[in-house]
Amino acid sequence: MAHRVTLIPGDGIGPEVSAAVVRIIQASGVAIDWDEHHAGITALEQSGQTLPQALLDSVTANTVALKGPVTTPIGEGFTSVNVGLRKTLDLYANLRPVTNLPGVPSRFQGVDLVIVRENTEDLYAGLEHQVAPGVVESLKVITAAASQRISKFAFEHAANNGRRKVTAIHKANIMKLTDGLFLQCARAVARDYPDVQYEEKIVDNACMQLVMRPEQFDVLLLPNLYGDIVSDLGAGLVGGLGVVPGANLGLTIAVFEAVHGSAPDIAGQDLANPTALLLSALMMLRHLGERTAADVIFGAVSRVLAAGVIRTRDLGGSATTTAYTDAVIREIDSPRGESAATV
Ligand code: NAI
Repeated sequence: MAHRVTLIPGDGIGPEVSAAVVRIIQASGVAIDWDEHHAGITALEQSGQTLPQALLDSVTANTVALKGPVTTPIGEGFTSVNVGLRKTLDLYANLRPVTNLPGVPSRFQGVDLVIVRENTEDLYAGLEHQVAPGVVESLKVITAAASQRISKFAFEHAANNGRRKVTAIHKANIMKLTDGLFLQCARAVARDYPDVQYEEKIVDNACMQLVMRPEQFDVLLLPNLYGDIVSDLGAGLVGGLGVVPGANLGLTIAVFEAVHGSAPDIAGQDLANPTALLLSALMMLRHLGERTAADVIFGAVSRVLAAGVIRTRDLGGSATTTAYTDAVIREIDSPRGESAATV
């Protein structure tokens, strides 16, 4: 029976990379009945809302969604659809595995870490107002409830996936109350997991350590804003935004999306790398119990990347999104481990 999954193509490069991923999943033989909904500027033009109720109803009913990036206007305009979606559906945990892939050029090898980012509060909630002309204020709200559950999520993830260490990242030397509360909660949860090592690092030092010795890290536990920033840093460790996947997880709902945004600089040019959204879709297939198909697709992607012939521009190649997608599909259809080199 087909899985029913909400598809939010997004905008910018979103429609291109999501179309590529839909084709690749179809080639793997997994039957998915895609329930397509638009968000952001596309939805605003169609329905007058950036986050239509029909989309929220679809994700709630299907409990699983695959989402492309959605543009948020900078310094003006509507509030973030991404933040709205995560908050409305209480997708409190953002899970982002950062791992080297075969054949993907990177300054580092041996990077294998997981970013666990709190997804519902912190400065990222965008609670801002003008106090007086020329003076504006942003509220950083941190709660014990949200900090405890994301800490528990990080330790559970570590314990269930053979990971040895959780590093909580903070700025509690300066933000003693907000980041201080986050740390207190992380420490309390850590006591329940004696088999998982726990450490803390101040966010500026953590960034330096990440670009000096990334292999020392395992699971990173971060409040929302640091998690957002460190995620892109993490992508930079393993080849860039074109290859890092993610999932927004709640108690029952899971929305899978790449770390990257809508990349307006390359949108509509058949240049985007669909790997990040594809790897997010593989997390989704595993979530749906389709482990074999996920393994088959991962094998195909790995072989195409390792061959190094058909790569998108962000990875130093000249292949279009379409050519790369075709190569992955050929590799699924007839795995030769060399198709990338022979076409
Ligand atoms: P971005 O991630 O869209 O792009 C940053 C750089 O990485 C650009 O040079 C872009 O071309 C490149 N890049 C990103 N994804 C790529 C891919 N798959 N293949 C090849 N190159 C890729 O970040 P930026 O420019 O800061 O944000 C653009 C828009 O995206 C903003 O409106 C932002 O709010 C939104 N955004 C949305 C997200 C989401 O929907 N989850 C996440 C991050 C940003």
